[in-house]
Amino acid sequence: MSAQVLLASCAELPESNGDDTALPDALAAVGIRAEWAPWDDASAGFAAADLVVLRSTWDYAHRREEFLDWCSGIPALVNPADVVRWNTHKGYLADLAGAGVPVVPTSLVEVGRQPSWPDREFVLKPAVGAGARGAARFAPDALDAARAHLDHLHAAGDAVLQPYQADVDRSGETALVFLGGSYSHAFAKAPMLAPPVPGFRTGEHLRPAEPDAALRRAAEDALDAVAGLRGIDRAELLYARVDLVRGADGAPLLLELELSEPSLGFRQTGPAAQLRFASAVRAALARR
Ligand SMILES: Nc1ncnc2c1ncn2[C@@H]1O[C@H](COP(=O)(O)OP(=O)(O)O)[C@@H](O)[C@H]1O
Ligand SMILES: [Mg+2]
Repeated sequence: MSAQVLLASCAELPESNGDDTALPDALAAVGIRAEWAPWDDASAGFAAADLVVLRSTWDYAHRREEFLDWCSGIPALVNPADVVRWNTHKGYLADLAGAGVPVVPTSLVEVGRQPSWPDREFVLKPAVGAGARGAARFAPDALDAARAHLDHLHAAGDAVLQPYQADVDRSGETALVFLGGSYSHAFAKAPMLAPPVPGFRTGEHLRPAEPDAALRRAAEDALDAVAGLRGIDRAELLYARVDLVRGADGAPLLLELELSEPSLGFRQTGPAAQLRFASAVRAALARR
């Protein structure tokens, strides 16, 4: 077979960041011509591609409706447009909690609303966002600053409030990557909002991780819950990244379940993960 696949990126990083660099070669090795194109490049031919894979469309947060319209116009999009619509607003966490998934307690604070402020440390972040942009951590007595930040977030859209999960300062979060519905690999992310902790810097610092059974099981359960809620077979999800932290009792809690444009941490694992990705793309093409 010789299929043409477009990997959707953004204008600022038209060939994504280094993490995805090896994908076109991994796809070419199994007969797939893959090229990068920014999602808003009207000349890229997205509608005619055999498959369009969302990868690094990281500039959609401030124009989500435009992005979702674009998604809806592409017949061969993975992940599917309706999944992307659901997953690009953190209100989806409430759906997962309702389905029994242990989720970090999350209050959606819609534009025009005020939360009941917690009496412990908390996080305010945009409901539509990525890369920790707009996320900030507050002590319970810092309500003036928190109110100002909420106003700032509300100027762009809904916000979410969560209790700060202190274990993130010690262990960070673990991202478990699934390709075509099956577990592939995992990596750990340093705390993004913590004050600097010796030996574990804040910011986008990644390292390989081997999740224990509790994390693996929680991620599997979360993915099953998504499939149930969306009425799909989880194999239809070309990629999924399940970000877990540990609550005060040590049990895993879902922080994020990324089905839109997650970094998949290919640089944190061996080359076999790219081969699994290529195979999952073949499966997605075969399904069409
Ligand atoms: N409730 C929380 N407890 C501890 N850390 C948090 C919490 N919420 C967010 N963070 C930190 O902020 C980062 C960004 O938040 P996240 O929910 O992953 O949003 P996004 O990645 O979509 O910006 C996380 O990687 C984590 O380091
Ligand atoms: Mg995140």
